[in-house]
Amino acid sequence: MERIGVLTGGGDCPGLNAVIRAVVRRAFENNIKVVGIKNGWNGLVVGDTMGLDLNSVSDILARGGTILGTSRTNPYKNKDDAAKVIDNYRKMKLDAFIAIGGEDTLGVANKLHKENKGINVVGVPKTIDNDLNATDFTFGFDTAVNIAMEAIDRLRTTAESHHRVMVVEIMGRHAGWITLYAGLAGGADVILIPEVPVDLEDVSSILKKVRENGKFFSIVAVAEGARFKEGQTMIKEEQLDAFGHVILGGIGQRLAAEIERRTAFEARSTVLGHIQRGGSPSAFDRVLGTRFGYKAMELVMDKKFGYMTSLSGNEIKEVPLEAAVGTLKTVDMKLYEMAKTFFG
Ligand code: F6P
Repeated sequence: MERIGVLTGGGDCPGLNAVIRAVVRRAFENNIKVVGIKNGWNGLVVGDTMGLDLNSVSDILARGGTILGTSRTNPYKNKDDAAKVIDNYRKMKLDAFIAIGGEDTLGVANKLHKENKGINVVGVPKTIDNDLNATDFTFGFDTAVNIAMEAIDRLRTTAESHHRVMVVEIMGRHAGWITLYAGLAGGADVILIPEVPVDLEDVSSILKKVRENGKFFSIVAVAEGARFKEGQTMIKEEQLDAFGHVILGGIGQRLAAEIERRTAFEARSTVLGHIQRGGSPSAFDRVLGTRFGYKAMELVMDKKFGYMTSLSGNEIKEVPLEAAVGTLKTVDMKLYEMAKTFFG
């Protein structure tokens, strides 16, 4: 191994820079040069790179986002782009590269690995949504949960003053992990996730009970991907990205209106949106990102390609990329059942 690349793809997430730093530090210890591929797969399609040395990764541990930039480019959307990726990998004289991303980015990495055209790839899982299979946690999730929890804490005081129901819409397209964890940590009265269709009658009766029990405000945590029992997921923008995703949004507002209509309690909604992805990573995410970056370099040096780093219990392991992609890790229903004890 003389020269490797590293890229970050898909939605950014706190902790990406911790991985990049660990990869570069570990590579330099072993006299391996690192090329930063800019803006996800797009950097390999157009050949856009930046040099990475100890200087470029100094002081980035606490920084959110990614110093490499990211994109939702899917090289397999267009046959020519996939060929350009392979061509540029060769032109860049890479011996291997590390792809840091979620389901979409790692799906592309797995395809490249399976095509067996001499592309050596190792994956590192990231997503605030925590919905990647074959790893207990992804970095970024803990930071997002803490941001959403703090938002709930803040909404609580204004809810109490005005005797309102505050609905907080939290990220999570297909899985309600952030909503469930933030809802539990913030003591939400109702937690609504994409995995369980929302029953408005149930929600209203829980909120009515809260008042009957003498508390005159409530917090409802709802995932952006949740849907009413009799309805569809709320879509903000129909246009699909390169991986076929729409932009979700609107469930919080609709829910607040329905709650008002059914209970006559005044309700407001807040959308946390990208605030959950921004800013400095938590200590947990910095450490997990660092451990993943270190392990990814170990896999590269051992020529263990087609694998992804993974957290299993408190151990960092490797799993085939294949095990991580294809299906999503949805919420553990036992945990959701437990959370119901604290509803109302
Ligand atoms: O996958 C991470 C995520 O933050 C989702 O929770 C959210 O639905 C989506 O990305 C938003 O994507 P974008 O940044 O493209 O608007």
